[in-house]
Amino acid sequence: MATVGRDIESVELTQQELWADGPPLELFREMRSKCPIHRTERFEEFPEEDGFWSVTTAEDIHTVSRDWETYSSERGGVLAAAGGFPLELAQAMFIGMDPPKHDRLKALFQRGFTPKRIAEHEERIREITRRALDRLEGRDTADLVADVGQPVVSRVIGSFMGIAEEDDALWAELVNSTLGAADPDLNPHGLQDAVTVYVPQIFENCQKLIAERRENPTDDLTSVLIHSEVDGEKLEEHEIVMGFFLLIAAGNDSTKATYCSAMRALMEAPEQKQILLDDPSLVPDAVEEALRMFPAFAHFRRTATKDTELNGQQIKEGDKVVMWYVSSNRDESRYEDPDRFDVTRKPEHQAFGAGGRHFCLGTALARLELRILIEETLARYPEIELDGRPQAVESLFLNQLKTLPVKLGPRAA
Ligand code: HEM
Repeated sequence: MATVGRDIESVELTQQELWADGPPLELFREMRSKCPIHRTERFEEFPEEDGFWSVTTAEDIHTVSRDWETYSSERGGVLAAAGGFPLELAQAMFIGMDPPKHDRLKALFQRGFTPKRIAEHEERIREITRRALDRLEGRDTADLVADVGQPVVSRVIGSFMGIAEEDDALWAELVNSTLGAADPDLNPHGLQDAVTVYVPQIFENCQKLIAERRENPTDDLTSVLIHSEVDGEKLEEHEIVMGFFLLIAAGNDSTKATYCSAMRALMEAPEQKQILLDDPSLVPDAVEEALRMFPAFAHFRRTATKDTELNGQQIKEGDKVVMWYVSSNRDESRYEDPDRFDVTRKPEHQAFGAGGRHFCLGTALARLELRILIEETLARYPEIELDGRPQAVESLFLNQLKTLPVKLGPRAA
């Protein structure tokens, strides 16, 4: 993308064509060096939405992320544009709440998501992954998004939530269409209509599951939502539905995205793939490098609760403040040669957020799934290679591929 001669301060980051092939990394690089807190005034698709401040460096994102009292998740939701999604529903997910309610709800789930508890699922996740790879038997080519990434992560989070396996595809589609509403392949109804089309379907399908769990409580996460009390009160129906949607959405989309981006990077840099084939114990390091270079969510947003200043920029109460992880994870003040995929780098990164109250609940699960997915794919198809150009989802929020065509190569003995 050509940026030479462009007046960086007047660029509107919301122009859809900037995102047609994934995040505009060159533009972010220029912002980091020339105007690290950048202003976008308007949305093409939603002229009624306010513009926002873009925060592009790792240090500034760290500052915003840790200060929930100044930068609220509750006041205006966590996406740059609500896109017609009712604020009341965004605030019914704990990602869209501030303390103390946020902390109380999140605590209900944290015990089940510690690295130790998550490690208990290793064998089952490996089996789910092997089953997906078994289905490729006899084929020369595949699409790693549709054939491996999606079915594996859907079954893993589906089993946590208590969803029947035959409903995995339905939930994957609802999540992809809702979060990827800007992409015409994922949401053929158009961005303006996404909420009216998909939200009723989410409610309808979730309410069936809720009714079943009320009758027959189990130990799945849907049952936790239904039966838990916060401050002596049970959650309301829309809070249960949105709590369910938060978990299924976070679990479905993100890990698939990072797996596919990692596999693409490994196929584009065969010497990096060879390093992992020679020493599979480096796969966890490759996972961290993939999380750094390809954070599954391009941004999350906050709203200023008072007038403040960030890196010399005045921010007014009520202003939107957007943290661009796709930028901070390539911040040249933190990483040498940041655009180089290097499985031996062992980076710290902000793919899971930059600390603070909303730090990702699913880090241990995501890391385990990613390690197993990469280990199993490479062990089975060591000569796997790209078979044409992968397509990126067109979105300011989802940083992921929608297709990743591969030639599988011979199956390893
Ligand atoms: C590669 C995988 C993943 C990435 C890159 C990722 C990224 C993130 C990020 C950046 C946030 C912070 C949101 C904010 O600051 O407003 C977050 C929050 C969250 N993530 Fe993940 N996530 C991943 C996997 C998962 C998985 C597998 C789950 C499983 C349930 C999950 C559940 C959540 C939840 C519930 C929150 C909200 C936490 C809160 O508000 O306190 N994530 N994630």
